[in-house]
Amino acid sequence: MLVGIFNSEDEVAQAAAKKIIDVFDFQPESVLGVATGSTPLPLYRLLREAYQKGTFSLKEGQAFALDEYVGLPVDHKQSYRYFLVNELVGDDKTGLLDENLRTPDGNAPDLADAAIYYDDAVAAAGVDIQILGIGSDGHIGFNEPSCSFASRTHVGALTAQTRQDNARFFASIDEVPTQSITQGLGTIMEAGAILLLATGKNKAKAVKQMVEGPVSARWPATILQHHPQVFVLVDKDAASELELTDYYRQNWDSYHRHI
Ligand code: GLP
Repeated sequence: MLVGIFNSEDEVAQAAAKKIIDVFDFQPESVLGVATGSTPLPLYRLLREAYQKGTFSLKEGQAFALDEYVGLPVDHKQSYRYFLVNELVGDDKTGLLDENLRTPDGNAPDLADAAIYYDDAVAAAGVDIQILGIGSDGHIGFNEPSCSFASRTHVGALTAQTRQDNARFFASIDEVPTQSITQGLGTIMEAGAILLLATGKNKAKAVKQMVEGPVSARWPATILQHHPQVFVLVDKDAASELELTDYYRQNWDSYHRHI
């Protein structure tokens, strides 16, 4: 893992945007794995600005979402498809075509079938670079503690902690869905490169576990220690429980001097 520690969430977003823009500069038909939640919002703003300036485009690319709530209508403002369309799709955003944004179907009559269908689509496309956030309980996508490291796209229950964390987007906690359909940890691990973004004190414990803790299903993001190309991009608050910050800064500088 390469850990980049930045002064602000804007700097985190800039570092992430640069890596994504480099990938699409090299290969405009690349496949971007996209996360939801509030953490990537400054990144998506930068990608839209880059599209408007002509320095970046998803017009020839594809995007695959990590996850979707079960049972929310697609036009519900908190459905992840609605969120991602709003952030990325269209000529006034990043040029991404609606048909090239793929999201799991949280309203399918047979959710298990929908999960297999989605997993096959992700695997066939092959994600080149995956954006991830992290839950305060260490989830990535919606892979909650105890999830198998080998899991594929599946339906799972959300923890009380996750529903509490996400209640801020809904009128009340009772409206937060109890289930999701999410790429599995095994699916996510097949991405070519991973950018994990975390900002704010609320993420400090999960970041500490992910980077310095033992690999354990108790903290699902720890599986990323086994991925060869992970960039952990954090602000000072999210980094505040890390022990080896001097080394991480040194290693980050060393890596970026040599590419
Ligand atoms: C959500 C999503 C994750 C996201 C995480 C953190 O529940 N399923 O993909 O990374 O929780 O969200 P936020 O960035 O709003 O803290």
